[in-house]
Amino acid sequence: MPQHIAIIMDGNGRWAKRRFMPRVAGHKRGVDMVKEIIRACDARKIGFLTLFAFSSENWRRPKDEVSLLMELFCFVLEHEIDQLHTRNVRLRVVGDIGAFDEKLRLLIARAENLTRHNSGMTVSIAVNYGGRWDILQAMTRFMREHPERAGSEIGEADLAPYLSLHYAPEPDLFIRTGGEQRISNFMLWQLAYTELYFTGTLWPDFDAGALDEAIDSFRQRERRFGRTSEQISGGKS
Ligand code: IPE
Ligand code: IPE
Ligand code: MG
Repeated sequence: MPQHIAIIMDGNGRWAKRRFMPRVAGHKRGVDMVKEIIRACDARKIGFLTLFAFSSENWRRPKDEVSLLMELFCFVLEHEIDQLHTRNVRLRVVGDIGAFDEKLRLLIARAENLTRHNSGMTVSIAVNYGGRWDILQAMTRFMREHPERAGSEIGEADLAPYLSLHYAPEPDLFIRTGGEQRISNFMLWQLAYTELYFTGTLWPDFDAGALDEAIDSFRQRERRFGRTSEQISGGKS
């Protein structure tokens, strides 16, 4: 089983459009699927689930859609967090949240604090997140805290604790719904050796059965990390 699944939840707008509904109806239905997929991952003992909810590029969308997404995000943090807490889920929000208004920032802080010590699965929501931003903020913080290292070579292990998902193992399985086959500036550093799975299913239709299909596909892959197939099956290092 994958330990960590990362998902680009795409296709809400098209789902709504096909039903002659406003795009926001797709986002609302998308929230229902978030709840279903969290529950399904929990039941399957997947320790880490990371969901891309809003990219640093999504600010380019029409103002109305952006503010509706922010409202929806506030609503979910306000009304779903107690349930998640009861189920022992630890919630983390990753991304440049300094750009959000105070209400949202407080709700994020409250949700993270409330669930901080939970020992169940960790759900990370990426908002105003970009993979390049993540690498750059890690570099910046590392250099600020280690001025003595200026000019010397920096290794992967130096940077790792500063990346925003430092508490999670790298994803084993990446899923993108909605048919597009691109990374869209999601976890660029952490996806280096992740198995990629793309499906045409739109996010509002992505249910537990669809998740199982993705996991089945993952389980048929051979993860070689640069080695040969013979090394893997023969158990030689
Ligand atoms: C993904 O669905 C949700 C967000 C980016 C917030 P989209 O809104 O991108 O849906 P499509 O791609 O237009 O169908
Ligand atoms: C990617 O979806 C980001 C999220 C799902 C939050 P988009 O629908 O914005 O991606 P692009 O821009 O079409 O690649
Ligand atoms: Mg999209």
